Amino acid sequence: MPTRPYVIDEMISAKTIAARVEALAREIHDTFQGTDKLVVVGLLRGSFVFIADMVRELDLPVEVDFIEATSYGDSTESSREVRILKDLRGEIHDRDVLVVEDIVDTGYTLRHVVGLLRAKEPKRLKTVALLDKPTRREVDIKADWTGFEIPDEFVVGYGIDYAQRNRNLPYIGAVRFLAEE
Ligand code: PRP
Repeated sequence: MPTRPYVIDEMISAKTIAARVEALAREIHDTFQGTDKLVVVGLLRGSFVFIADMVRELDLPVEVDFIEATSYGDSTESSREVRILKDLRGEIHDRDVLVVEDIVDTGYTLRHVVGLLRAKEPKRLKTVALLDKPTRREVDIKADWTGFEIPDEFVVGYGIDYAQRNRNLPYIGAVRFLAEE
């Protein structure tokens, strides 16, 4: 998809993200302390950086699994129809589960995935989202833990893309579109 020209303004630095991930991991550790196994489920593709940092901060026995869900394609507008492109590999019945999401925007993705996972009857199911845009919410859902609440700006980096670009930025940046020539 052709993109309009844009620049990226740093919104949350890599250092600030690292400190917040560490603090979130401490709270998650306290909740799941004593677990025999925590299945940490990352929602691809956007959460791949966050889950990598999160599991390395968690001093718990973890299993890592992934679901690939998409509702945006290469568009900046949610289709509100969540498609599962890749399901879990492992079992979560009677297991402790932590869903790791990069951003909650309209809320459709998290609501859909939580519904699917609850149907598998885990012992406990908790959710963590690095970013939350509460002003964009269309369905009533909130992650159990949130890294940062942000305004309604299009963001990239730390796993998050714009038309599949910029996932590899170490910080979260706001996309600022430039006027077309
Ligand atoms: C993005 C993001 C979240 C979801 C949040 O995924 O990674 O999973 O949208 O939006 P929502 O709250 O409005 O549902 P996307 O569909 O772009 O796929 P990706 O993670 O592969 O980039």
